Amino acid sequence: MNDPGYRVLDPAELAAAGALRQFSLDVLHGLSEKPKRLPSRWIYDGVGSELFSAICELDEYYPTRCEAEILTRHAPEILGHTGTGPIDIVDLGAGDGRKTSIVLTATLKQKRDVRYVPIDISQSAMQGLVKDMRTRHAGLAVGGLVGEYFDALTWLSQDTTRRNLVMFLGSNIGNFSKVQTRVFLRQLWEALNPGDLVLIGWDLKKDIDLLLDAYNDAKGVTAQFNLNLLARINRDLGGEFDLKNFRHYATYDVYSGAVESYIVSMVRQSVAVRGLRISFDFDEWEPIHTEYSYKYLQSDIRTMAADTGFEIVSEYEDSRRWFTDTLWRVTKEKPRA
Ligand code: AVJ
Repeated sequence: MNDPGYRVLDPAELAAAGALRQFSLDVLHGLSEKPKRLPSRWIYDGVGSELFSAICELDEYYPTRCEAEILTRHAPEILGHTGTGPIDIVDLGAGDGRKTSIVLTATLKQKRDVRYVPIDISQSAMQGLVKDMRTRHAGLAVGGLVGEYFDALTWLSQDTTRRNLVMFLGSNIGNFSKVQTRVFLRQLWEALNPGDLVLIGWDLKKDIDLLLDAYNDAKGVTAQFNLNLLARINRDLGGEFDLKNFRHYATYDVYSGAVESYIVSMVRQSVAVRGLRISFDFDEWEPIHTEYSYKYLQSDIRTMAADTGFEIVSEYEDSRRWFTDTLWRVTKEKPRA
């Protein structure tokens, strides 16, 4: 073989090698800042993902059940809007894939050329998901992509013979700020072909007590989930956080419409993180911001569609109107000659 004298690093290999470095940087940066913050995406290691599945079973955490109700009732209609040709069901952030399964079950009933395309940056998460989905749905064609969302989508859109139905479920979009959401939607629109569809799960504004209960459950599972950020720093970066000295706190900002989650240091303390060769100082009652979970009005969501180039096909709500899945179509005008 001819040695070209260079090697192109595989993005998935790069991502795996870079993950620990990125986590270190985010911890170093976030805990050095004032106010302190840690990005919620680092909650989801094996432990965190299991805790999230446990949250979905809680009485107080309504979004999962609301969305399951919506998808169970409307999956056939949603699929109807994708025409009759071959489709790729593209899943961004599938998690344990339970909600996606509701849609897949409906597609397999229709005799149609369907391929399931989960996209995830983590190869190990992908392996687990593909294995599960194959067991759950016999005969399902699966074509998962390990990579960044928009790289994978752009690559996928080169094949214009298959229509994409991109799903971003579970109110994962709620973790983005309003600006990040617009940028995300615009990139999604950019990466797709005219006629492609996107199905997005949004949590709706509702009675504040219901919101607060959903993020402050009685069993304390959400607290454990949030505190997993510190537990993970202990596990992966040699941190010495004593979790008993910290508490979970979630509140709702009526102006921004976001549930905001924090970890609060209950004592004045200094905590070493050996892997980073540094200690972080906390005042008593000093917060670390960890997560935003934005809540929307249907009218905000419509504006968001119009601003980013999507045509609204349908808005599905659960019977209590606590959650919505919106189906949008990509429209692109041909540039004038
Ligand atoms: C998975 C991001 C949608 O924000 O509601 C659950 C995560 N945080 N309880 C959400 C979460 C606290 C969840 N998302």
